[in-house]
Amino acid sequence: MTKQVFLGAFEEFTPNFISNAWSHPRSDTRGFATLKYWQNMARELEAGGFDFLFLAEALGYPMRADGSVPDVVIREAVQVPVHDPMAIVSGLAATVDRLGFVVTASTTAQQPNLNARTFTTLDHLTEGRIAWNVVTSDNQVALSKLLGQDNVTPHAERYRRATEFMELSLKLWEGAWEDDAVVFDKKTRTFADVDKVHRIEHRGQYFALDGFFTALPSVQRTPLLLQAGTSPAGRAFAGRFAECVFIQERDLELAAATVADLRARAVANGRESQDIKVIDAVSIVVGSSEEEAQRLRRELDATPSREAAAALFMGWSGVDLMAFPLDATLQDVSTEVGKTTLGTFQNGDDSPTIAEILDKITSSIGGIRVTGTPESVADQLERIVEATDIDGFLIEYTYGGMASYREFIDDVIPILRHRGMLPEKPRGGSMRRRILGRDSDRLPATHPGAAYRLSHGKD
Ligand SMILES: Cc1cc2nc3c(=O)[nH]c(=O)nc-3n(C[C@H](O)[C@H](O)[C@H](O)COP(=O)(O)O)c2cc1C
Repeated sequence: MTKQVFLGAFEEFTPNFISNAWSHPRSDTRGFATLKYWQNMARELEAGGFDFLFLAEALGYPMRADGSVPDVVIREAVQVPVHDPMAIVSGLAATVDRLGFVVTASTTAQQPNLNARTFTTLDHLTEGRIAWNVVTSDNQVALSKLLGQDNVTPHAERYRRATEFMELSLKLWEGAWEDDAVVFDKKTRTFADVDKVHRIEHRGQYFALDGFFTALPSVQRTPLLLQAGTSPAGRAFAGRFAECVFIQERDLELAAATVADLRARAVANGRESQDIKVIDAVSIVVGSSEEEAQRLRRELDATPSREAAAALFMGWSGVDLMAFPLDATLQDVSTEVGKTTLGTFQNGDDSPTIAEILDKITSSIGGIRVTGTPESVADQLERIVEATDIDGFLIEYTYGGMASYREFIDDVIPILRHRGMLPEKPRGGSMRRRILGRDSDRLPATHPGAAYRLSHGKD
């Protein structure tokens, strides 16, 4: 029997995401800026059996290295507008009981202490149902043009900064407050026991902190740590810290190799191979017949303009396809931005031409494409799990709004459940308990964060 999988919805706080198909007749994202829009989605996802809603984050919008922006970015809404995902999580948590939330925050853009405080706050407010998707950011130009960083930080340095960011965050979450530090004794006017609240001292290459962490430990203490970015540096980082990795890999052999590599890296870091889960992104189109599904897929593929697709690609990879002749390839192009995205189109002599890449990304950018009747979609998903050993699926935004998920929920999830790929009763509890399948909300003892624990250090 195929193993049980996790299900997440892949969204961003924007009306137009991965498929670039906000203008498709089935899409309905006009209300995207309202809490109601997301609350309705959260409720339907929860009722449908999803484990979490993932809100990706964009620091800016696609732009060229000099900061100039193709008109299509604003005109066709290529990652503009985009709003702040942290701001809606508590409003969503208030309307569901079980659904978890994964939110991206960038170690290149954020500041560790305030970021740690935000996640701790959300872990309290969601009762342990928050996870941090750690990224070093795809859109590096935005960092210099919109956030005032002087230069684009080179890729290797971004991961060095990410490592220090993570080490400091773990110190704050695991080593600042002991579990029984809060006594709340009115008689002695003792809110907290001074001996059980510890100063954190950190002086590193990128960050310095000398003082107390101001937020109380939450259900998970450290939010479940996800990571996206599978360049060699990204994998090295994941092997140490990530409890779950998001990939967007269509080639099943490559996905299988990535899964095996990530698990091996976890083990090399003294962790269990099953302490790192891998979730691949899939774009799903369901039809009542094979022909209908294929027709729907073709219509979806034909929705975005070439220019909009190229702009989205530029935001993710730093490469402006429109600046190359159509018969060129990207084989010798290098980027300090998303190396994983660019690498997809660098296959030596087999590298596709710019014209072929444009065709490919216009019809779809993103994860594995699964198209068919409900039975056939379930078959395909089952085969993907068997071929790759991935642990779950991120179901991508296709049409914009609940239309991305409705048929999947109504027609495919019952089949997956029947086949034992989903539990009879949807999972609950903290994100860590649920995703790692362990009997604890806290970091496993083998995770490097556990080294910062004080006397509260029970696994
Ligand atoms: C499923 C998935 C989700 C991602 N979400 C984000 C995101 O929300 N924000 C972002 O800046 N990059 C996101 N990325 C892109 C990059 O992985 C990320 O910026 C990374 O740090 C680039 O590292 P790399 O060079 O190791 O690939 C995502 C990637 C994948 C596969």
